[in-house]
Amino acid sequence: MKEVQKEVSMEHSQKLFERSLKVAPGGVHSPVRAFKSVGGTPVFFKEAQGAHLTSVDGKRYVDFCMSFGPMLLGHRDPVVQQAVHSMIDTAWSFGACEPYSLELAEWIQARLPWVEKLRFVASGTEAVMSALRVARAATGREKVLKFDGCYHGHLDSLLVKSGSGLAGEGSSDSAGVPESVARTTIVVPLNDLEAFEAALKKHGPELAAIAIEPLPANYGLLEQSPEFLKAVQEGAKRVGAIFLLDEVISGFRVGLTGMAGRMGLKPDLVCFGKVLGGGFNVACYGGRRDLLDLVAPNGKVYQAGTLSANPVGMRAGLTTLQRAESLQAWEVLEGRTRQFCRELTEGFDRAGLPWQVDSVASIFWIRSRTGGPIRSIAEIPEGHKERYAKLFHWLLDRGIYLPPSGYEVGFVSMAHTPEILSQVAATVIEGASR
Ligand SMILES: Cc1ncc(COP(=O)(O)O)c(C=O)c1O
Repeated sequence: MKEVQKEVSMEHSQKLFERSLKVAPGGVHSPVRAFKSVGGTPVFFKEAQGAHLTSVDGKRYVDFCMSFGPMLLGHRDPVVQQAVHSMIDTAWSFGACEPYSLELAEWIQARLPWVEKLRFVASGTEAVMSALRVARAATGREKVLKFDGCYHGHLDSLLVKSGSGLAGEGSSDSAGVPESVARTTIVVPLNDLEAFEAALKKHGPELAAIAIEPLPANYGLLEQSPEFLKAVQEGAKRVGAIFLLDEVISGFRVGLTGMAGRMGLKPDLVCFGKVLGGGFNVACYGGRRDLLDLVAPNGKVYQAGTLSANPVGMRAGLTTLQRAESLQAWEVLEGRTRQFCRELTEGFDRAGLPWQVDSVASIFWIRSRTGGPIRSIAEIPEGHKERYAKLFHWLLDRGIYLPPSGYEVGFVSMAHTPEILSQVAATVIEGASR
């Protein structure tokens, strides 16, 4: 295919990485970027346009990482770019009231009835952390239930994985998280109603919130059944816990109304990020009016941010969403991604390859074959990480940049034309056959 430029060296990336190692932990500012999961030297990119990235060594790649999700329209969509330029010509930051965040907030409120009020913050982590604080204040309870395999950002309370027993109290997933905090988190496997009910029985009256990624997409793509999601919602209601949907990945990605809209869920609180800012630092938490009214300056839950509702991000976000709506981007992307995955599946099946691909809307996960769906982390086949690393590098050599970990999902954008996707599918099948 056109993107094949195998002969291009990694010399500049290599040199920059060596310098980076001296200034940043692991040479990076977010861990997966370091290529630890796939090995080798991370590619340094100097430019992004449409569906493509260009490395500092001058090699062009079709990008499926898409900044881990935000770039719904592709890199530097011209209309978003124009909006950003004109905002930069007007103001960069006020730290005061302005109309730009109001417009984005009203746009969301008009379309998502479960977002009665919202507060903009600067990252998904901040959104989830703040939402949890609201949940704890509203209920007067401390504990939180989360699902093993769901990632909600790096806040202490949720950086916790399953303890030894089912529905056990959590143990920290990171050094530096106090055990006393980890113990306030109850961790339950995904897609396991029995374990969920057992946890409710044991901890129900102590739970401030039940948090879930309605489309878990941080440990592969672990699509949950509608019945399971409904049962989680119903369980939260039954025990008086706040039902907290983390739609940082799925929000404005799987459709205008996210997974809540797709599945008919009604969260008490919901978090958005990624696509919401169109590639800028924008996230928000929102939901029931009575809950949001607990937040300062109305209420006693303190939460603030110097750069919250930064006007450049507000403009990029609103323009991205308006453009997506007018282009019917979600429908288009779902169709393109389905076709892409169909071609992959046919190729994998035809040659009896040990690969499979899952997708929901424009999110996909190329993973080791199991035959059936994978709904919890325990079902991910052993050896997947290593197998994926090989495929990743084979494709990287051929100008295809998949996410640099077998547990990260890929994203299709409006800039990924059917032609690009078809060419990539053929190359992936070839790589998977080796
Ligand atoms: C579902 C989910 N929640 C929260 C976060 C944290 O967002 P951020 O990286 O913007 O802090 C992420 C990031 O990947 C996410 O996927």
